[in-house]
Amino acid sequence: MDEDYMSERILVTGGAGYIGSNIAAALVKRPGTDVLVVDDFSSGDWRNLIHVDCEVRAADCDDPALLEEIADGAFSAIFHEAAITDTTIMDQRLMIEVNTNAFADMLEACHVSGTRMIYASSAGTYGNSPAPNMVGSGEAPENIYGFSKLAMDRLASRRYETHAAPIIGLRYFNVYGPGETHKNEKTGNKTASMILQLYEQVKAGNQPRLFKYGEQMRDFVYIRDVVAANLAALDAPRSGVCNVGSGLARSFNDIIQILSKELETDFEIEYFDNPFTFYQNHTEADLSLTADLLNWQPEWTLEKGMRDYIKLLEKGYRGPAEAA
Ligand SMILES: NC(=O)c1ccc[n+]([C@@H]2O[C@H](COP(=O)([O-])OP(=O)(O)OC[C@H]3O[C@@H](n4cnc5c(N)ncnc54)[C@H](O)[C@@H]3O)[C@@H](O)[C@H]2O)c1
Repeated sequence: MDEDYMSERILVTGGAGYIGSNIAAALVKRPGTDVLVVDDFSSGDWRNLIHVDCEVRAADCDDPALLEEIADGAFSAIFHEAAITDTTIMDQRLMIEVNTNAFADMLEACHVSGTRMIYASSAGTYGNSPAPNMVGSGEAPENIYGFSKLAMDRLASRRYETHAAPIIGLRYFNVYGPGETHKNEKTGNKTASMILQLYEQVKAGNQPRLFKYGEQMRDFVYIRDVVAANLAALDAPRSGVCNVGSGLARSFNDIIQILSKELETDFEIEYFDNPFTFYQNHTEADLSLTADLLNWQPEWTLEKGMRDYIKLLEKGYRGPAEAA
């Protein structure tokens, strides 16, 4: 590690949440890196940070004192993960205020100091457009959450030319893995990955339930890959937005098959009618731009990722992957 790299201070907003705590856990392992987690604890949970030696502050990500620190150049980089993450919330003004307006304020502060900004966008920006999903095409969100993220990408792109450091947007697909347990607890088994939801169903002795007939396809990406993509963004040479997925779509039936194998039980699926009028049937990340921007590619197949995850769940571990 070279001298310039020592004692850098990195801000992680939403760091008590799922992805933020996983990023923070990986960052604190880097020699000379100090991490400040800022979270309003609206959906995040302190237990994600038990084994992460970082500074924690309860505040909004657009808190005026924090914006001043950013503008003063207090951070060498920012990972902005804070957001309303419950995609069923329909309050349009609230969603834009929390997700988009706050990001605009942070970008403004970053602009003053020339701070690198790595922020969470989403595959929700593609809505139900045909897969594979590619940045720059089929961006047609189906809900206010997806729109708030597309609005962030558009705000960021207006700054690309004049910002002194890269601004990098990462469109996460369906992330799963250690550190998401709080989502089920806080939202009643609604916002965590299908992998955790189905695992908890079968562990509670219930039959796994899927919308008819379990063939809906998703790009499930393991949290360790998501963290690696974020760390790669620290070295990205230019601004841009790119997909972060596995690059492969897998079905809900596949999840049950892998669960059956890992838990050595033959689970019989109960199929039921899908009550949603809007439902994504197939998401799959095109990763060509990603490889170019981040010099990164995913390493975890669904089989490998679920095996790693289930091992930790079976031990009762609930924190971020890197802190296990
Ligand atoms: N998990 C996924 O599959 C997925 C997919 C696409 C995009 N994303 C994006 O990734 C980011 C992280 O999501 P997550 O899955 O870790 O969800 P999460 O709900 O666990 O984390 C979000 C965190 O942000 C905090 N927060 C919310 N509003 C805040 C505010 N105004 N100021 C400070 N903190 C605030 C919450 O308390 C929480 O700790 C989000 O921006 C989300 O939209 C996640």
